[in-house]
Amino acid sequence: MAYKIINGKEISAAVKERIKKEVETLKNKGIGVGLAVILVGENPASKVYVANKKKACEELGIKSFEFKLPEQTTEEELISLIKKLNEDSEVNGILCQLPLPAHLDEGTVINTIVPEKDVDAFHPVNVGKIMIGDFDFLPCTPAGIMEMLAYMNIDVCGKECVVIGRSNIVGKPMAMLLLHKNATVTVCHSKTKDLKAVTSRADVLVSAVGRAGFVTADMVKEGAVVIDVGMNRNAENKLCGDVDFEAVAEKCSAITPVPGGVGPMTIAMLMQNTLTAAKKQNNI
Ligand code: GUN
Repeated sequence: MAYKIINGKEISAAVKERIKKEVETLKNKGIGVGLAVILVGENPASKVYVANKKKACEELGIKSFEFKLPEQTTEEELISLIKKLNEDSEVNGILCQLPLPAHLDEGTVINTIVPEKDVDAFHPVNVGKIMIGDFDFLPCTPAGIMEMLAYMNIDVCGKECVVIGRSNIVGKPMAMLLLHKNATVTVCHSKTKDLKAVTSRADVLVSAVGRAGFVTADMVKEGAVVIDVGMNRNAENKLCGDVDFEAVAEKCSAITPVPGGVGPMTIAMLMQNTLTAAKKQNNI
């Protein structure tokens, strides 16, 4: 089957162009847009993500405030920094890169960020708002995936959508956004009994597992749309997703590559949330 590549680089560039123009318009009115990014410790993947977020801010005229804290930072120190940023009017969005070192409690840290500046949409207030469909911010990765589907004119209304993975960051909010668009949604996870039977029903299959080669061609329906959220290293240390791309692509109508698929979209949506935060905080 001839399949389409869903090009996250191209789609994110279009989203970022729109944001850049809006940031510029705000600037002309004397309103700056700022994002604070906190990184604790030395997680190599997190370092790359944070560097990419900073780069995107620079591209779009968003001021980035970077806080690189040592591994042994105490919870009190981290909380105290977040409280300061909550009060700082130059900072419209606050993001604390996860995972945190084991001695820091993610829940406590997330709950400290005021919901108005929670551009990850991880705070329980924002999670609750997403659940009822009355939200200010959407979680960046699922929002990026919805943006990709819209760009490709893929309407999920009434379709069978299957999400593999039930994390708070991707799987659960992904299911909710698909449901808001009237998809029939199934969430699979490590305890799912017959995974292949479920995934084979999917018109749209989203994989957020974190294991190279996890989704094989026999798990995919002919003509399905496959979205790969995985960011893994294979045996040759090459960056790859969850999906066995070469074999699965042949069965798909459309598929996201890794790299150059979901990743760039996540960052574009973070920029979108930061802009939304700035507008709301300035009553625009
Ligand atoms: N770690 C992996 N993905 C994310 C994300 O979207 N936001 C934050 N803060 N940490 C992450």
